[in-house]
Formats: sequence, structure tokens, C-alpha cells
Amino acid sequence: MKKYDRITPEGTRDLLFRECEAQRKITETLRSTFEGKGYHEVITPGIEFYDVFSSNSRYFPQDSIYKLIDHKGRLLAMRPDSTIPIARMTATKLKGHALPIRLFYGQRVYRQQPELRGRSSEIMQMGIELVGLSSYESDIEILTTGMEALSSCCVDDYRIELGHIGIYKLLMENLKATPEQKETIHSLIVSKNYAGLSDILEDFPENRTGELLKELPKLFGGKEALEKARGLFDGYDGELLDMLSYLERIFQGLMERNLDKVMIDFGLVHQADYYSSLIFKGYISSVGEPVLSGGRYDELFKDFGESLPATGFGINVDQLASGLLKEGNTSERSDGAPQSENIRIALTKGRLENSIVGMFEEIGYDCTNLKEKGRKLLLSIPDKNMDVVLAKAADVITYVEHGVCDVGVVGKDTIVESGGTFYEVLDLGFGKCKFALAVPKGSDFYSGYSTKRIATKYPKVASSYFESKGMDVEVIKIEGSVELAPLLSLADGIVDIVETGTTLKENGLEVIEEIRNVSARLIVNIASMKLKKTEIEALISDIQEKIRG
Ligand code: PRP
Repeated sequence: MKKYDRITPEGTRDLLFRECEAQRKITETLRSTFEGKGYHEVITPGIEFYDVFSSNSRYFPQDSIYKLIDHKGRLLAMRPDSTIPIARMTATKLKGHALPIRLFYGQRVYRQQPELRGRSSEIMQMGIELVGLSSYESDIEILTTGMEALSSCCVDDYRIELGHIGIYKLLMENLKATPEQKETIHSLIVSKNYAGLSDILEDFPENRTGELLKELPKLFGGKEALEKARGLFDGYDGELLDMLSYLERIFQGLMERNLDKVMIDFGLVHQADYYSSLIFKGYISSVGEPVLSGGRYDELFKDFGESLPATGFGINVDQLASGLLKEGNTSERSDGAPQSENIRIALTKGRLENSIVGMFEEIGYDCTNLKEKGRKLLLSIPDKNMDVVLAKAADVITYVEHGVCDVGVVGKDTIVESGGTFYEVLDLGFGKCKFALAVPKGSDFYSGYSTKRIATKYPKVASSYFESKGMDVEVIKIEGSVELAPLLSLADGIVDIVETGTTLKENGLEVIEEIRNVSARLIVNIASMKLKKTEIEALISDIQEKIRG
């Protein structure tokens, strides 16, 4: 019997009528913008050999690539990206062609997304690649074309942020850290986790490089970020200063062309590893993630046996279309309600909610509505133009990740378990507890040959803990009161959060290993951080002052 003949796979969807129209308008507008600038269309196959994407220097998480096997048993991949296949094509079919080469594309890319996160696995991408030039003018050409592309699609409220991946790469090279430490530092910079970064870099106390890396994600904003960087980098490696000067020159060049919707972020790091110097992202107000992403990739062609400088960008047409549709819907609202320009903050209901509301009160925010909330889930802090959403912990992350909430308060336990893409800017210092492995008092967890069973509300945390120990366990997901599982002989132990230890004690269990400390965190949507920077920074600084006392 057929089971899946009426639905589409997760992450894919049918587009009907208005959605098609919105997408078509965007692709036509972008096509005419690109053609007007002398770019020529190319299309690469949807399916490539896996080898095209498997070099170390083209990093794409393995598990995000859809793989197939052809009739000769060779591994194929559905393209997760357009730049790499276009580099392959240019290095082979256009070998020896007069330079520069200006190419544009409009095609779908395929990336497996984590389950049930509302992310698309099939994305319509349009973009350009400028091959054979390494000049300042070519970087300006790409950036101005990107900005023109966004404004030609009737997006007025956009921001382009610039970064320089060379600065990050040079500092990481100079830091005497292990590959594991470097991986952790990378993810802490990407998530602007200032507290975590500061902790790990304390292991390198005498190291100026560590100090600079610590500051990198904090260095974002307008011209002042460049000025601050100049002060910080003063007297360090000459190459670093050259890269900074280049970024200043690009910023200045855009200002002179009256393109002032530009920001700087020294903490900007792309997922794909092939970028070599100037990188950038573009945001619009109705979409919680970047709609444009690009930069210079002078090393990528070497993987295909050529030595060609190149730069380019891709636009996520689906996100742009859905953002524009959302904006259209808002302006067409018949109830006359204005679109909220307030900061929207999601709080984890319960203990964390009480602590942050207490903190807000001490800071002097008007929390009357929050204290008299009844069963309401959407409230406001009127004197701060803040809307408050009360949600379950994991949902706080989902709302912030999608940008429907700008900021969230959530436990590190949920962050570690759920993952997600957002900035984790503050350790709030309350909601402190520990992840621990606990077993019935007096039992010898490690004895015997049988595979142990672990009950937990945090299956990812538990699995990765035992994986790191190289130990096979069977993890069973339990929704709450996990202490019951060993009492009922369903499990040999539990991985759970322990605060006072009372629950364990009263149920005859004891901690045998502590896994990690957790506490409440302030998280911020990536696009909101750029588009509502002043308001969000004011909130962060109010909280920070309170924490410091
Ligand atoms: C958490 C945790 C423990 C308990 C630990 O459960 O899962 O059961 O708190 O606190 P303690 O060390 O201070 O005793 P929670 O209260 O969130 O309820 P749940 O187990 O039903 O999810």
C-alpha cells in the first residue's frame, strides 16, 4: 500500500499562485540586474559526483549533503551549493577563456536540514560569480551589484554586513591551540558567545592573539567598529593591519557611493571554508536569517587545478520572496494594527521567567503586566517598548531562530540539546545547575558486559557524552520525572540536570559523574542583532550592569 503518495518530503513544498508569482518577479528582476551588469547565465547539473564537494577546503557538513549511487556504484551528491560546481565548470569548460568571466545562475540547491525545524531542504538560489579579478574594483562591483539586487526587489530595509575571513584565519593560525580547541573557538565566535569565548581563551593568558580573538565577535556596527579595531590591532602583525585597511577602504568606497546600509562584523565567519578574504551577508527585516551571502574565494580554483581569483554571492530567493510576501501582508492588514517595531523577547516559562522578571524589576522596567499575567502568553513591558512571549524552553529557541522573537531567555541545557543558529550573548548567572550522570545509590554502573540503558530528557547530550567516552549505551527518551526510570528498572542510570540534588536524594539516586555546568542565557536572532542593534544593545547593557552589580 502506498503511504507517501500525497505529501512531499520534509523540507520541500509545493508553490502555488501568489508564491510562484512572488518568486518569478524576484528571479526576473535579479536576472535583469545581473544581465544589465554584463553577467552571463550558466546552469550546472542538479546532481554532481560527490568528489566535487568532498575536499577539505570546501567544507560542507557531510550529513547535510543528499547522496545517491549511480548504476556504476559511484557516489553522487545533489548540489548543496552553486559556487563549487561553477568553479568546477569554469576550470574545465571555460579553461583558457578570456578573463574576467562574469557568470550568473538561478538554480536550486539541496541541503538536508535538522528534523522539524521549519527549514527548507530545497532552496532557489540566484547569484553571480566574477572570475579572474582580484582587484578592489571587483570587490566593489560584487557588493554594489548585491545591494542593487536587493533594492531592485523593492527591499528598502536591508543591511549588508562586511567581514574579513583572513583576519580570523590569521589569528587562529597564530593561536597555539589544538584542533579541538580551534573548533570550539570557531563556534563560540560564530554564536557571539562572549562568556564562553572568554573562558576558553583564558587558557592562553599571555597571548595577545587570544585577547584579539576574544574581542572579534564584539567588534560589529558602523564606522566605530573599524576605529575600535584599529586601536586593538595596533602594533600586531602587519598583515592583519593590511587586511583591516582593506576593509576600511571597501567601507569608505561604499559610503562614497551613497551606499550607507553597510555594517561591519569582525566576527562574521561563513560555514563554507573556501572564502579567503572579504566576506559579506545581507539581511532584510522580515526574515530572521541572511538572504544574501558571499565573498572572495581566491583559493577554491586550486582544487580544480587552476589558479584564478574569484568573488561572488548567492541570494536565497525563497526567503526573499516569503519576506516580501510577509511585508505585503502586514501593510495590507485590515485591522489597522501597526507592525511591531518593538523588541520581542521570549522567556522560558517558570523558574527562568521568574528570575528574569525579578531582574527586569530591579533594573526598573515596568513589569506590572508580567506580574498580573493570568493565562496570557503575549504581554508587554510598556516603558521599554518590549513585547514579551512566554514559551517552553525549546520553543524559545525556535522563535528566536526564526526571527519571530528578537531575543530569548533560555537554559544552556536546552541550547546544548536543541542546537540552532543564533547569538548567545550573555550568561545571565541564574538558573545554575549541572548536567550529571546519576545511578541508584551504591550500584556499580560500569560493571558487567551488558549494554547500559540511560534514561534522559536530553538524548543528544547523553549520546554525545557516552560517545566521547567511546562507550556504547542505549539512550531512552523520557519526557519528565526521569528519576523514575531506574526506580522502575527501565534504565541503569539517568543523564539529567541537577540543581539542589533533592530530587535525586529523595529517590535513592546519586551523581557519579558531572558532565557540565549550565545556566540561563540571553540569546539573540542573527538578523535582529543587525537590524535592531541599538535597542538590543541597550537591553544587553542594562542586564550586564545588573549582573555586575
Ligand atoms: C528538573 C530535573 C530534576 C530536578 C532537579 O526537573 O529534571 O528532576 O529538576 O532539581 P533538584 O536537583 O533541585 O532536585 P523539573 O523540575 O524541571 O521537572 P521534570 O522532571 O518533570 O521535567
